[in-house]
Amino acid sequence: MAIRRAKRFSECCSVGKPCLAGKRILLCVTGGIACYKSADLASALVRASCQVSAAMTDAARKFIQPLTFQTLTRRQVFTDMWQSSDDFSSQHIALTDWADLMIVAPATANIIAKMACGIADELVSCLALSAAGACPILIAPAMNDRMWSAPATRENMAKLVARGVHVVGPATGRLACGTTGTGRMAEPDEIFAAAAKITATKKKSR
Ligand SMILES: Cc1cc2nc3c(=O)[nH]c(=O)nc-3n(C[C@H](O)[C@H](O)[C@H](O)COP(=O)(O)O)c2cc1C
Repeated sequence: MAIRRAKRFSECCSVGKPCLAGKRILLCVTGGIACYKSADLASALVRASCQVSAAMTDAARKFIQPLTFQTLTRRQVFTDMWQSSDDFSSQHIALTDWADLMIVAPATANIIAKMACGIADELVSCLALSAAGACPILIAPAMNDRMWSAPATRENMAKLVARGVHVVGPATGRLACGTTGTGRMAEPDEIFAAAAKITATKKKSR
């Protein structure tokens, strides 16, 4: 076991890649076609010796099964704030207390709007609100280019950036809907690098 753990550390630390080893990452997945890339991100984080807990919206579960994240992270996946946890804690608060960083990837136009307004009507939006003062948030927006450039999304993004939410992407290129424009989710290695940078500068006191 010790040997296996040492090998995992070497995947990021010893090759000059940013290091996230030992960090607790709360990976929130919302409902966009880029959900499949979040499985790669979860896998990369686990290989880098992070503890990864995943939370998913109902819409995310239309695109990818919790079982994928459960298997990759070897941990319970949170999908419903009404489901009880092993220690009977309130997950919508306890998970952000636990995390060094909350990542929302993909971040839909909808979750961005909810975060901008402080709406907390399901687990992921509650977590985004309870992250205030508990852990930094990194979002990886992903959507159709017209949704990304819509005035409402522009205003919502400006609010989140002004509040200190970290953003990676989106990239410009071919989109799932068949058009070309800005709205592609950042690649998992870019999200990983952004996460490493944030956690390197913000240490959580435990
Ligand atoms: C096939 C399909 C693909 C979608 N892709 C996206 C997307 O990439 N980005 C986005 O913001 N919304 C997308 N949507 C719309 C969201 O799924 C919808 O706004 C949903 O309410 C988001 O819920 P959530 O933010 O709670 O996950 C898509 C919908 C469908 C049916």
